[in-house]
Amino acid sequence: MTELEALRRDYPDIAADFTIPQRWESYSEREHATWRALFEQQCQVLPGRACREFLAGIAKLDLAPDRIPDFERLSDLLEAQTGWRVVAVPSLVPDDVFFDHLAARRFPAGRFIRRPDEIDYIEEPDVFHDVFGHVPMLAHPMFADYMQAYGKGGQRALAEFGALKNLARLYWYTVEFGLIRAPEGWHIYGSGIVSSRAESLYAVESPSPNRIGFDLERVMRTEYRIDDFQESYFVIDSFEGLLAETYKDFAALYAKLAQGPTYRPGDIVTADRVLTRGTHSYKPGSHLPRSEGQ
Ligand code: PHE
Ligand code: FE
Repeated sequence: MTELEALRRDYPDIAADFTIPQRWESYSEREHATWRALFEQQCQVLPGRACREFLAGIAKLDLAPDRIPDFERLSDLLEAQTGWRVVAVPSLVPDDVFFDHLAARRFPAGRFIRRPDEIDYIEEPDVFHDVFGHVPMLAHPMFADYMQAYGKGGQRALAEFGALKNLARLYWYTVEFGLIRAPEGWHIYGSGIVSSRAESLYAVESPSPNRIGFDLERVMRTEYRIDDFQESYFVIDSFEGLLAETYKDFAALYAKLAQGPTYRPGDIVTADRVLTRGTHSYKPGSHLPRSEGQ
């Protein structure tokens, strides 16, 4: 049985590209209330911590606490900004499907919302993480281009190179957990941080994690943890700079990455541009991630 056929048992109307209807009218009041609680909580912590591009995206897309957004309406606003649309999918989709959507400027988002007892932590990305966390940055033209280029790069990495792990690390340390230089230090743009109250505070203020200047090869050599706050954040100087580095042809870089070291999440290496050295006590062996996710 293919993955699609297996999913069809739970989602009879799943399409060949793994999209499903959002069924916006099916959300209960309780589910809308969970969105509202999460939204209001983030509105208290994000001003001054999230980058201005993220906060501008919230405003441009009319994202509001009252209801879980209707993907069609949200997509119409987003498409007018940058040509992207948001489509509903069951949860994590296979890599090739994910890359194909990004390459076509479609962002696959979970439609379900976490239970009230999961406000602080969920394992699978829900509509709050996917929409509140990811979609505002897609209203920023340069970031919108970066995400599409990432999708095309993923298609290429799948077809030509065995480099998916390296590329996934780039996604993790930028799209999901990226920080950007700001006059007063650093601001958040990563979706995994902006959709979490505790990690928003931790990423910006805690003395515990390392904050290291972004370097493409370094990041692509660094494992990540999916089960706890990050031990290292990589700080970009600007979105222009991130784009300039990632738009280069990765063929030579992938060949180089096939050899040489892999770093653990908490490591600091000599060449690093260290902004803050984390105070977390390092226990050998304790920093290995259980596994690396999508
Ligand atoms: N430049 C990469 C390649 O040649 C593609 C890419 C672009 C990857 C932007 C990530 C982000 O494969
Ligand atoms: Fe995500």
